[in-house]
Amino acid sequence: MQKTILITGATDGIGLETAKKLVKLDHHVLLHGRSPSKLAELQAQLEAVKAKGRLASYVADFSTLASVSTMAESVIDGNESLDVLINNAGVFKVSDTNTSEGLDVRFAVNAIAPYALTKCLMPLFDSSSRVVNLSSAAQASVDIDALLGVKTGLDDMEAYAQSKLAITMWSRHMAKNRVLEYGLDGPVVIAVNPGSLLGSKMVREAFGVEGADLTIGADILCRAALSDEFVDASGKYYDNDSKQFAAPHPDALDDTLSSEVVRVIESILKDKAA
Ligand SMILES: NC(=O)c1ccc[n+]([C@@H]2O[C@H](COP(=O)([O-])OP(=O)(O)OC[C@H]3O[C@@H](n4cnc5c(N)ncnc54)[C@H](OP(=O)(O)O)[C@@H]3O)[C@@H](O)[C@H]2O)c1
Repeated sequence: MQKTILITGATDGIGLETAKKLVKLDHHVLLHGRSPSKLAELQAQLEAVKAKGRLASYVADFSTLASVSTMAESVIDGNESLDVLINNAGVFKVSDTNTSEGLDVRFAVNAIAPYALTKCLMPLFDSSSRVVNLSSAAQASVDIDALLGVKTGLDDMEAYAQSKLAITMWSRHMAKNRVLEYGLDGPVVIAVNPGSLLGSKMVREAFGVEGADLTIGADILCRAALSDEFVDASGKYYDNDSKQFAAPHPDALDDTLSSEVVRVIESILKDKAA
């Protein structure tokens, strides 16, 4: 069945490969990127090969939370429903770790912006919709002060691993509490490690290696988005290194710690909106 699928960070790496696959499968694909020129180029490239599906593009720099809500409004204006949201956009190495809103950019882009986007888009989801969140094998206990942007100077890996645990924690929390906190018709929420050291710009810049075939990541994202194996996977973590559902970092299974991370993200969103 033809689905409407929004993929963030579609302009490079795993997101780009995934977008190409989804277009070939004739789905309606909503592309997100932060660079207007890269996004326009991608849309033109995909328009040339698409057969049946519809394409749309949305620009937003996720290091600014205001731009996330502006983008969400455009998505809501242009679409009656959303079958799948793939929260793929992410950063590892950056020249400036602080955002204009006083956050650490790794937390902002990798954990807080996708939470904000998912919440804003709730009116488009029903209980069969899926939110696929990009986790990682790199997961480390979240320092709440770093999440808040109060503690600065975390090195690349430390901040990245904490931000990836934060998205894994809120994924399970959202899945478990979708009825109470997010409305009866909340979506299935799944965290996915797409595979380690896949050959993207992020991996080349971070580790100086070419990395493995990006289609390893694109294939698992398409399965998580579309396949029946993931129908009952809400709240679970899929580890594509071991090719199975697996236990995430123990903190992600701790309801108290996960609720605290969500409470802090909510407080950041409230603060930035004020
Ligand atoms: N590659 C791996 O081995 C691996 C392993 C585990 C998890 N992951 C996760 O997989 C996801 C995709 O990573 P990748 O390896 O494909 O990296 P990538 O090639 O660097 O792609 C990242 C995507 O995110 C976008 N992005 C970066 N900063 C942004 C911002 N401030 N606002 C909006 N969009 C932004 C990029 O836009 P531009 O095109 O403008 O740069 C690009 O489209 C990430 O969440 C990453 O953490 C990757």
